[in-house]
Amino acid sequence: MQQVNRALFDEVMVPNYAPAQMIPVKGEGSRVWDQQGKEYIDFAGGIAVNCLGHCHPALVSALKEQGEKLWHLSNVLTNEPALLLAKALVDATFAEKVYFANSGAEANEAALKLARRFAKDQFGEHKDQIIAFKQGFHGRTFFTVTVGGQPAYSDGFGPKPEAIEHAEFNNIDSLKALISDRTCAVMVEPLQGEGGVVPADVEFMQQVRALCDKHQALLIFDEVQTGVGRTGELYAYMGLGVTPDILTTAKALGGGFPIGAMLTTTAIAKHLVPGTHGSTYGGNPLACAVALAALNTVNQPEVLAGVKAKEQLFRDGLSQINEKYQVFDTIRGQGLLLGAVLNADYAGKARDFMVAAAEEGLMALVAGANVVRFTPSLVIPDADIREGLVRFERAVAKIVQG
Ligand SMILES: Cc1ncc(COP(=O)(O)O)c(C=O)c1O
Repeated sequence: MQQVNRALFDEVMVPNYAPAQMIPVKGEGSRVWDQQGKEYIDFAGGIAVNCLGHCHPALVSALKEQGEKLWHLSNVLTNEPALLLAKALVDATFAEKVYFANSGAEANEAALKLARRFAKDQFGEHKDQIIAFKQGFHGRTFFTVTVGGQPAYSDGFGPKPEAIEHAEFNNIDSLKALISDRTCAVMVEPLQGEGGVVPADVEFMQQVRALCDKHQALLIFDEVQTGVGRTGELYAYMGLGVTPDILTTAKALGGGFPIGAMLTTTAIAKHLVPGTHGSTYGGNPLACAVALAALNTVNQPEVLAGVKAKEQLFRDGLSQINEKYQVFDTIRGQGLLLGAVLNADYAGKARDFMVAAAEEGLMALVAGANVVRFTPSLVIPDADIREGLVRFERAVAKIVQG
């Protein structure tokens, strides 16, 4: 029989990832087990995807129920789960119209194409400039990775899409220097995730909104990582009090089933007429049925309040660890998207902390070389947070003691 192990990855998979040696085979809530039966507490949540942990009963039953009814139609036909999910998103947000995709990058690709089309129709071909921010991350399609502010990810693939520029995040003068009536859209994460878990200042975001209004540029919020309860609000824009023209959401939207969505107003949406954009799988009934269950489960006052309470538990625990071992400069982020920023003594060593944590039975993440990132389930039991922090402390002690 075929041996299924990590060596098989190197044999048969394209080497664009370098996964850990262990292979998880089972998950329940915020616990995961590997092939050898070793148990892990999951502070990674599939990179902010598993908003309800692993195999949440509401999601399992939505998937099973839909799985026995109807799997796929294509966009030649609409379907009930897609319509119900779109209605729920419209009811819960500023949006009036929804476009479904399969991932965050695809939702962003749709947002960027819509912004360009809207500007062309309303103002003419010259209004094509897209401004985004350094260290931003918007996905890996060639358009979205070019809009993302990390050249290391977009260089080396030939000529890039044009008229894309980058300002400094949280620096309004830097945006002022670039924005003009030629700007068609500004794309921004309300809290930069991959870029190091850096929240936007409220005042900065208000000024970004005002500058977009002044220059008739659309404001696009990439809430792929921050959306669906992650910050303790259903969407982070709600906490900022700044409403975008277009919002993208993915990751936690499906709670682990691949789906993305672009949300906007009727006036903007009308520029994507039939034939302008599309996707075979976007709005797939299985994905939409699971996402509807995820959205309905997360969008409850007690779940969102729970995120803020659990944030405090994390912050207190991480501060206690830091008092003992002095490894962090600061703990930043919002809700259950938190980053422990390593101090100068441990600069560049985030990966070492992640690897040591895994040895102790804790799944964590990094966000760049200096930040250990935590994006657990939004309903992780407090007992799992405490036990996970005990394991993390053991990992920190190992590193400090060399
Ligand atoms: C803010 C943000 N936008 C877009 C993406 C891309 O999403 P996906 O990997 O589903 O294409 C990510 C993924 O990490 C993200 O964090």
